[in-house]
Amino acid sequence: MPEFSLRPQTFERITALMHASIGLSFAPSKMSLVSSRLGPRIQRLGLGSFEAYAELIEGHGPEGDGGEFQMAVDLLTTNETYFFREPAHYDLLERELTAQRPQRLAVWSAASSFGDEAYSTAMLLADMAQQGRIGKDWQVLGTDISDRVLTSAAQGIYPEERLRNVSPERLKRYCLRGEDEAQGLVQIQPRLREQVRFGQLNLCAPIDALGPFDVVFLRNVLIYFDPPTKRAVVDRVLTQLRPGGLFFIGTAEGRVPCETPLTVLAPGAFRKTAS
Ligand SMILES: C[S@@+](CC[C@H](N)C(=O)[O-])C[C@H]1O[C@@H](n2cnc3c(N)ncnc32)[C@H](O)[C@@H]1O
Repeated sequence: MPEFSLRPQTFERITALMHASIGLSFAPSKMSLVSSRLGPRIQRLGLGSFEAYAELIEGHGPEGDGGEFQMAVDLLTTNETYFFREPAHYDLLERELTAQRPQRLAVWSAASSFGDEAYSTAMLLADMAQQGRIGKDWQVLGTDISDRVLTSAAQGIYPEERLRNVSPERLKRYCLRGEDEAQGLVQIQPRLREQVRFGQLNLCAPIDALGPFDVVFLRNVLIYFDPPTKRAVVDRVLTQLRPGGLFFIGTAEGRVPCETPLTVLAPGAFRKTAS
């Protein structure tokens, strides 16, 4: 255990920085969580106090150089994700696309973490394109605030366990199994990786024109934001979705608070109302 403690004013200093730069919100009751997540890191760095750590991360912005600010974000958030999480959303997407038969399709995984959501979507779209149910001109963009997860997403290497919801046929078609020291790992096939791009994007900063997208996933990230930030993030993200496009949030994230008109399709699934 660290021999130093987190004082309320330092907790406020660190959480105010996280809120101002990337929208993370921590109630006062989260002081011990912040302390236990950052304490071991501070000890490892040999800094000796939360104050010194606050000073260090204040020197690195969110779009920074992979510095300590990024590390703090990773420690304070969870990057948990897995392939075909909330399978009902992929089923709905497949039904909608089967009905629409789009010739071109652009999808955005807006808090992609390690890329599981982006590659799951790519597997579905590649199958549908192969079967002639959508056109061959499709692509997926994954973005996240964390450098670390994006580097890993671009490599597309995963422990097999994370692909537990992927059918054996898709595993065979889209994944390479590791051997020897890579036993237990799989890598996404290069031809699928080519269809998926990754880039850094802070959902709490203005978004340059990225879209329009036909489908946007914004799942399991709103939980980190307070209600005004949630609303601003959702409306900002929805500017990049074309009218009539599909929008997904995590099913546990409740009602989506926003100004943009949406039609509810299923838990966590919406259509942007055509204006
Ligand atoms: C739990 S993961 C969600 C992954 C995936 N969407 C899913 O549902 O499985 C949440 C991700 O949100 C990212 N995140 C947190 N704040 C962010 C922000 N302000 N801008 C962009 N990404 C953010 C974190 O780095 C983390 O990778």
